[in-house]
Amino acid sequence: MAQFRLPKNSRIGKGREFPAPEGARNVKRFRVYRYDPDSGGNPVMDTYHLDLDDCGPMVLDALIKIKNEIDPTLTFRRSCREGICGSCAMNIQGGNTLACTQAISDFRGDIAVYPLPHMAVVKDLVPDMERFYAQYAAVEPWMKTETATPPDRERLQSPAERARLDGLYECILCACCSTACPSYWWNGDRYLGPAALLQAYRWIADSRDEATGERLDALEDPFKLYRCHTIMNCTQTCPKGLNPARAIGEIKKLMVERR
Ligand code: SF4
Ligand code: SF4
Ligand code: FES
Repeated sequence: MAQFRLPKNSRIGKGREFPAPEGARNVKRFRVYRYDPDSGGNPVMDTYHLDLDDCGPMVLDALIKIKNEIDPTLTFRRSCREGICGSCAMNIQGGNTLACTQAISDFRGDIAVYPLPHMAVVKDLVPDMERFYAQYAAVEPWMKTETATPPDRERLQSPAERARLDGLYECILCACCSTACPSYWWNGDRYLGPAALLQAYRWIADSRDEATGERLDALEDPFKLYRCHTIMNCTQTCPKGLNPARAIGEIKKLMVERR
């Protein structure tokens, strides 16, 4: 998992401390970022001492325990708790990952939990995903065809053509990669970022799609694609083991080949 250092001058205050229940013998401290825009105050780190003998194994289990039993105001997204929906992505002990598939036992000492970096924060661990989703929509992530649909069957692919989509279709749009990418941090308004570009390549690579030229034209721009400097944070951090940097490289290769 890629590690990121937080800015030294971040104005995150010391928050409240919630002690472990009496008699707890297997105690772990979770330091959790709290921010409520309605309060008008700066963010703080609240500290929760949890008894791991009475808690599920994943970081998401700990957050749910905090919310259910200690502090119902703690706000975070989650749905599937299976690493499928992508909604529980956050920065855990310095790395972007999914809280539901991140084991508590992987960390010694305290566990610090922050929202995904370099995103506006809606509340606590919930980042504003509006721009990220707009960038996804901008790559027009659906099959485009010009030829008539065969009347008697689906549009078929050979096993080899289908295999080209492996490593692409599995993306759950969690945004761990884009929010780990320094180019996206500084130019996120114009650079599409690794997640949207991996999705763009997923359609470029699809043998059934008939809009490759149009898709490449749309990416031929000094910012949308070429802000990727192959730093590889995206690939290191992807919790699904995908390789957005490779997908971006493939798009760049196609750009050169068609010149
Ligand atoms: S490529 Fe990986 S890290 Fe990026 S959005 Fe998809 S699943 Fe998440
Ligand atoms: S390889 Fe490209 S997309 Fe991935 S982190 Fe580096 S600059 Fe960002
Ligand atoms: S809750 Fe769905 S990926 Fe974690």
